[in-house]
Parts: sequence; structure tokens; C-alpha cells
Amino acid sequence: MDDESHSDGPRCGADAMQTVGEMRDAAIAIDDAGVIVDVGPEKSIVDLADANTQFIDAEGGFVGPGLVDPHTHLVHGGSREKELPLRLAGASYLDILQAGGGILSTVRETSAYSEEALFAQAKTSLARMQRFGVTTVEAKTGYSSSLAVELKQLRVAQRLAEWAGIEIVHTAMPAHAVPKALPRGRDAYIEELLAMLPDLQAAGAEFADVFVEDGVFSVDEGRQILQAAKRLGMKVKIHADEMVPIGGAQLAAELGATSADHLLASTDEGLFALAEAGVMAVCLPGTSFYLQKPAARARFMLDEAQLGVAIASDYNPGTCPSENFGLTMSLALLTLKMTPEEVFVAATRNAACALGRGDVAGIIRSGRPADIVIYAAANPEYVLTHFGVSHVRQVLVKGRPVL
Ligand code: NIG
Ligand code: FE
Repeated sequence: MDDESHSDGPRCGADAMQTVGEMRDAAIAIDDAGVIVDVGPEKSIVDLADANTQFIDAEGGFVGPGLVDPHTHLVHGGSREKELPLRLAGASYLDILQAGGGILSTVRETSAYSEEALFAQAKTSLARMQRFGVTTVEAKTGYSSSLAVELKQLRVAQRLAEWAGIEIVHTAMPAHAVPKALPRGRDAYIEELLAMLPDLQAAGAEFADVFVEDGVFSVDEGRQILQAAKRLGMKVKIHADEMVPIGGAQLAAELGATSADHLLASTDEGLFALAEAGVMAVCLPGTSFYLQKPAARARFMLDEAQLGVAIASDYNPGTCPSENFGLTMSLALLTLKMTPEEVFVAATRNAACALGRGDVAGIIRSGRPADIVIYAAANPEYVLTHFGVSHVRQVLVKGRPVL
């Protein structure tokens, strides 16, 4: 079982790869409000029980914090399985996007879907995520052709949070793809995106994100959009260096972003800049796997740059059509070459930091919400190496079983 009751609490940022505390024969006391009141040796915790206490027996299984997935495109219409054969035949992800497919095809479907249809599709996805132990999840907008579609995605994500009783962190990402035709020109298009931000923030978006990429949004455009978001009081994230290192990581450092995500193609300089600025690196090993690209240089991030690393599923229809966060974690072990301990830190505490939730989620500690996963496996190494299936026996969100 993980417990951090001995340290001062998680630090977010460049020094965030702390070790995980481990306890054997331990128990967790949870109050009626779903808050952890004590963690310790089973005997002393059991003494706290009274006649009304309910017990959950982990049956010798490993118990860890609820998983935090800090980068998803949860709400979207349709699917894109027909792109894979094109990619296998040699087309690149950016070729497909530039031909009007990729994100732009999901934009068309998401715009056409009713709110109910979007809700039904995303509900299935969220239920799958929960089965793998996810108790906090980020959801981006960004498959939109207008403010109305952005707001529709945001409303769906908000309804999902209510339906599932879990926290969803909302990110506005109107700057996700550039339409093929821009009748009023590129500058006017950027102005349109800028004009959406106040409404998205007012509707509940806490973060803003931009796909800063060769042939998508430039560093200057990303800066313009994210500075405007910051002026509104929003926190910022960047899809940085996914394909071409045009300076996305450096921009994230310059803006003091909460996280910089992808980083497949980042330069040493970009990664050092992130560490210096205390930006959390979010690696998306499912995406590099599905795009058949070398994984991000997590060992360099951890060992050379001393950069805090989180992992996320990036669940989306184009580059990672899988809600299996357990698989994400196994791929972190296998392709990012992280240790099991680093993987669990990256999927809990650091993932919470990547959402500005370092003081709420990602750790089992007195005073925190009782978001807890009980595994039908004796140790974390088994969970990660026996890959592709769920080892989750039970999930508690704020002390209540959701599974
Ligand atoms: O994080 N890179 C941009 N956004 C997503 C992909 C979205 C899509 O292809 O639909 C990503 O990989
Ligand atoms: Fe993404």
C-alpha cells in the first residue's frame, strides 16, 4: 500500500520524482464524508472502528491511490479506424490532417453529433477508464467548428462528471486543428479562437491548451492564445514537440505552463528548460506506440534533466484509441523504460500535479479524499508486467465503491 504520511507532501515540478512509501498489513480509515482519517498498521486502525463501521478487505491485494489521467480527448463523435491502413501504407499523421482527415474529420463528426449522442459515446469511454482505476480525469474540448460545439463538448464533460461522481478537469482547446479553408484569413481565425476563451472559461474550463506543431499552430500563435488565456486567469498546457521540435517545450517553460505534453521530439534544451521552469512533463506512451514512433526520452528527462514526469492516456480517436490506462502504465514501463515505482508516481501524484491537483489527488494520506484502487494482485510489478488486462478489483471514489 502506498502511504506518504511521513513526508511533507508532494512537490510539483522539477523535483517531483519522489519515492513511494510502502506499508504492509496496513489499513485505511475513511470517514462518512469520504475523507481519509488515518493510515497505518491494521491493528491500530481497526481500533478506530465502531458498530457502524463498514469494512472492505483487500484480501492481500496491493492497494494504491486512485489513478489520475491528465490528458484525454474524452468527448468526441465517431471513430477513425480507417486511418490506420493509410498510415501503415506510408501516410504520416500530419499528411492525413493536411488532407482534411485526422482531427478535422472528428471535428465534422463532433459538430454533427447531438449532445445526447456525444454523451452516450463518452459515457462508455469513461466507464472503461474507471474499470482501470481512473478516479480523476482531464477532458479537452477541441473537436469543434464553433464556440457552440466547444460549449457542447464542455457541457457533456460536466454531465459525465456528475454521472460518474468523479472529478473531471476541463481544458479548452479550440486551437487543436486549423480548418482547410480560412475564408477570412489566418489572423481572423486566430482572433475567433481568442474570442472563444472568455466564454469557455465562464462555462467551466480551467485550463487552455494549444497544439503547437509544424503545420498546425506556430509558437507565436500558441504564445498569443495562451497569454490571452493566462490574462483571463486560466492555467495553461501545451501539446508540445509531438512530431517536430518547433519550440513547444521552450514555450511551455516561458509561459510557466502547468504541463507540457507529448515531447516525443523535444531537444535537450527544451527538456532542460521545462525542468528549470518547474513544468510537469506528460508522456503519452500509448500515442507513440499507436503512431509507431520512438517513445519520449523519459530516462533523459528523469536522469539528466531532473524533470518531473507524469503519464497520460491521451485517449482520442486518432492517435490513441484506447481507454486502457493500465496499458498506458505498462507501456511506460516497457517503452519509456521507467521503473514500476516511477510509473505509479507518474500515474498518480505527478499526474495530479499536471492538473494543478497535487494537494488533492494522487496520494493516500490523512485529510485527502479516499480515492483508492484495490488490485487483485499482490504487487505493483505484477500489475504492470501482466499487461493489457485490468487487475483492478475495486475502486473507491471519495470512499464510495464505484466498481
Ligand atoms: O494528443 N496531437 C493532437 N491531438 C491529439 C490527437 C487528436 C486526434 O488525432 O484526434 C493528440 O495526439
Ligand atoms: Fe492530445
